[in-house]
Amino acid sequence: MFKVSIYGAGFVGAAAAQNLALSQIANVVLIDIDGGVAAGKSLDLLQTGPVLNHSASLIGGADYEATRDSHIVVITAGIARKPGMTREDLLRINSTIVSSVAREAYKLSPNAIFIVVTNPLDVMTSLVQMETGLPSNQVIGMAGVLDSARLESFIAEYLQVSPLDVRAMVLGGHGDLMVPLPRHASVKGVPVSELIPAEELNKMMQRTVNGGAEIVALLKTGSAYFAPGASVAAMVKSILLDERRLLPCSVKPHGEYGLSDVYVGLPCIIGKNGLEKIVQLQLTAEEQEALRVSAESIKTNTTQALSLLKPPVPTTAAPTEEEPSKAAEPVKADSGTAK
Ligand code: NAI
Ligand code: 2OP
Repeated sequence: MFKVSIYGAGFVGAAAAQNLALSQIANVVLIDIDGGVAAGKSLDLLQTGPVLNHSASLIGGADYEATRDSHIVVITAGIARKPGMTREDLLRINSTIVSSVAREAYKLSPNAIFIVVTNPLDVMTSLVQMETGLPSNQVIGMAGVLDSARLESFIAEYLQVSPLDVRAMVLGGHGDLMVPLPRHASVKGVPVSELIPAEELNKMMQRTVNGGAEIVALLKTGSAYFAPGASVAAMVKSILLDERRLLPCSVKPHGEYGLSDVYVGLPCIIGKNGLEKIVQLQLTAEEQEALRVSAESIKTNTTQALSLLKPPVPTTAAPTEEEPSKAAEPVKADSGTAK
């Protein structure tokens, strides 16, 4: 049986664990800074076995050692933005958490494929690749599967057809600048442009871009987790069973779409090596420009995250007579790694 370790036993981590247990493809280790939460949720999920007919092993706690030799590491650890907290505060805290989790997880499972979920997603995925030093095919972010599923659900609901027959693709960063591709959406091969008026389709795309926020507003605390957990499980399954599904994921292009040095949502073949191939679609000039803008914004945020991760400047060095304040000056951001 494969072993999947999920760091962060919050809402998304637990939902992913449940989906994996039900699909019977992996034993699951849930890790959380709050070991009791991880142990409690894994015990609860284990006890669904006799009722739901699965025999997956589920264990949980705070001790990373339990994750040794995982085939897949999923990172959902982090915090949500709280009232009074700036976006920069959140970026700093989640960058610190994700980098540290990735570093420790990698030591125990150096051959694993890492799937990153923590927000801001594309930036965090980049940090995990830098921190682990893994080849980029082994570090993938989950967002496009979720964003595409949202668009597919809206299309299915509007047309009153089975969501099983709807296929759509959302590329770009997981945020306001994501790039839904209505030209590539279809119902069993029939382009949605032949079935849905452009104005209605535009509304669905806008709702997709706002999909996470819509759920946050309804929940009032916390964010979506059922569909994110299911999306993680779909990616895990495609890797472990070498399904080679075509899924939009956050990956690092090497010139595809004219992009490099950034993690961004692109159409990918996902199989036993993680990212097997980035699929090059023929985009219109407008779609290509939207993707470029989205990628540029991620690059800027990644640079900011790296600067926030820099170690604090020592303030104890004795100032010299000539330059009395030099020792306490902040260090300028650079584009180095998170190490
Ligand atoms: P949550 O707050 O329920 O869970 C986060 C868990 O991480 C908590 O249990 C917390 O104790 C744990 N944690 C914090 N620091 C840790 C550390 N150093 N080591 C181990 N565990 C640690 O949040 P939820 O709803 O599960 O979301 C998790 C993350 O996923 C958030 O950043 C959220 O924004 C993001 N997200 C991303 C999606 C995507 O499409 N990429 C979709 C949904 C959520
Ligand atoms: C979502 O899209 C919060 O990223 C999360 O639901």
